[in-house]
Amino acid sequence: MEQIILTGDRPTGKLHLGHFVGSLKNRLELQNLGKYEMYIMIADTQALTDNFGNIQKVRDNILEVALDYLSFGLDPNKTTIFIQSMVPELTEISMYYMNLVTVSRLSRNPTVKEEIKQKNFEKSIPVGFFTYPISQASDITAFDANLVPVGEDQLPMIEQTREIVRSFNNLYGENTLVEPKAMLPENKTCLRLPGIDGKAKMSKSLGNCIYLSDTSEEVERKVKMMYTDPDHIKVEDPGKVEGNMVFTYLDALCNDSHFEKHLPSYKNLDELKAHYTKGGLGDMVIKKFLIKVINELLTPIREKRNELAKNPDLVYEILRQGSERARNKAHKTLIRIKNAMGINYYDEK
Ligand code: TRP
Repeated sequence: MEQIILTGDRPTGKLHLGHFVGSLKNRLELQNLGKYEMYIMIADTQALTDNFGNIQKVRDNILEVALDYLSFGLDPNKTTIFIQSMVPELTEISMYYMNLVTVSRLSRNPTVKEEIKQKNFEKSIPVGFFTYPISQASDITAFDANLVPVGEDQLPMIEQTREIVRSFNNLYGENTLVEPKAMLPENKTCLRLPGIDGKAKMSKSLGNCIYLSDTSEEVERKVKMMYTDPDHIKVEDPGKVEGNMVFTYLDALCNDSHFEKHLPSYKNLDELKAHYTKGGLGDMVIKKFLIKVINELLTPIREKRNELAKNPDLVYEILRQGSERARNKAHKTLIRIKNAMGINYYDEK
């Protein structure tokens, strides 16, 4: 069977290193393997479910996220990049799926629960927000996606999608919808890259991110602020590697060739860690190395982004064409869904 991939991001901010290691790298590899039909969606409709009072933010970040994608190397000739709201079929499909999900099932979604707390929605949860896992099931199934590369926090959405698919197929016809699987990054550190402050997760609202579009000076400033080991005071002191953000980031980002180029007195990260643990290695050395690693990774992205940002019309044209292609695909699925449900009243039998 043909492998189809769909994934996406909410346009609520620029993409950061958490996205780099948690999803973008993976997507680029999948794209370049050339054996998948791949869709990447800018999930503006979903972003609006908790930003309905701030349309401008979502509007602005559609361009920012598109710039991040394109400068990272996602190629519109290989990957269909589109805007969720420009494929209205997704909304129509959601309406039919709503019948297959209970309020209590939605209330148990751990990611949604967590977000409700974060956003202080406890007292008044907007229905649109509460039901976004259903809309996410439409996003995935409209493209017959069988693989969904996502971060760990999205697993409950994939599980919800699988349940909807099973209910739908049971009720209206086996094999109407495709049951998707999640695809997680292999490197464990990449699952959930913490912020530079060592807090749970890199997140725009916590202000602890390094963005793909940060200048090299910003990268330097942020790495210098990074949380390391508070008990590692003098250079001679033995240092802790666990919970030390510099090592966490190195785990996620660096390889042996970075050592060869930027810190040749060590062969690899294990050697560096051993020295730090034993004592005699200062934070500045490891921070300077991390700055070089990050800037080596981000410089080409930054340059391409600056070029592309000069021509937003071109970027919107790419999104327009991608959305049209996506719409064609989703439309076929919608017809299949409606036929399976018998919502084809005018068709002659
Ligand atoms: N929920 C995802 C996020 O918050 C965005 C998203 C919307 C998505 N629809 C999707 C991801 C479908 C994968 C598949 O980043």
